[in-house]
Amino acid sequence: MFVKVERDYEAMSQRAARIIADLVNQKPDAVLGLATGSTPIGLYENLIRIARDEDIDFSGVTTFNLDEYEGLPAAHPESYYSFMQQHLFDGLGLTEQQTNLLSGMAKDPAAKCAEYEEMIRRAGGIDLQLLGIGGDGHIAFCEPGSSLAGRTSLVALHPKTIADNSRFFDRKEDVPRKALTMGVGTILEARACLILATGNAKSDVWAKMIEGPVTAQVTASALQLHPWTIAVSDELAASKLQNLDFYRHIDRELIDQPELPLCIFQPELDPRRNIFAAL
Ligand code: PGA
Repeated sequence: MFVKVERDYEAMSQRAARIIADLVNQKPDAVLGLATGSTPIGLYENLIRIARDEDIDFSGVTTFNLDEYEGLPAAHPESYYSFMQQHLFDGLGLTEQQTNLLSGMAKDPAAKCAEYEEMIRRAGGIDLQLLGIGGDGHIAFCEPGSSLAGRTSLVALHPKTIADNSRFFDRKEDVPRKALTMGVGTILEARACLILATGNAKSDVWAKMIEGPVTAQVTASALQLHPWTIAVSDELAASKLQNLDFYRHIDRELIDQPELPLCIFQPELDPRRNIFAAL
């Protein structure tokens, strides 16, 4: 895992936006996996600004979001569909054809989830998966105890997640209890992962993700098994890392090298391509 520590939330957001902008510059038909939550909002704001200032063309990009609440129609103000329109898609001018989200109103969620996996495969797989980390250590909505090989499915949310997300709803009873989410196995197939964390409240789970054992109790820890994970946080979230000085040293040493070499986004050069082909 490549651990990067930035001064504050804005610096973290700028760095993460730069990584995505560079990828789209290198590969205009990139497939991006996207995330919701408070954490990536600054990244999205910076990405919209960079795209405008540097005239980066997003018209060839395809996106897949990690998850969606079950039972919320797309038009609901707290649906992740609405979140993405508001915070990114409108600003980048992404069309309905380019963007993919799981439907919270699917009559047959299992079929919908299988179809979503198939759509990701048909798009050529996800080049870069953006992630946040939940207070219980989840990625997407893969709650403690989820299989680390899990695929996209309908899941029950942990009480901590429901409590954390209640800030977005008028009443706690309104927070959905279930969601459709990519599985950890789905996420690990992305060619690269970019995970963000900000603030002191994330410092414990951030340390567990980077330095703790790989465990289904902290599903983000599965990213230790991924060859290309970049973990970017502010100083507060990084404050409990034991090896902080070493990560800073590595980051300084690598400063002149590209964050993500182009070869990992070219499937023909990807040494894991036979694994993908077999799926
Ligand atoms: P947050 O959520 O960015 O709102 O803290 C992160 C997550 O649950 O993935």
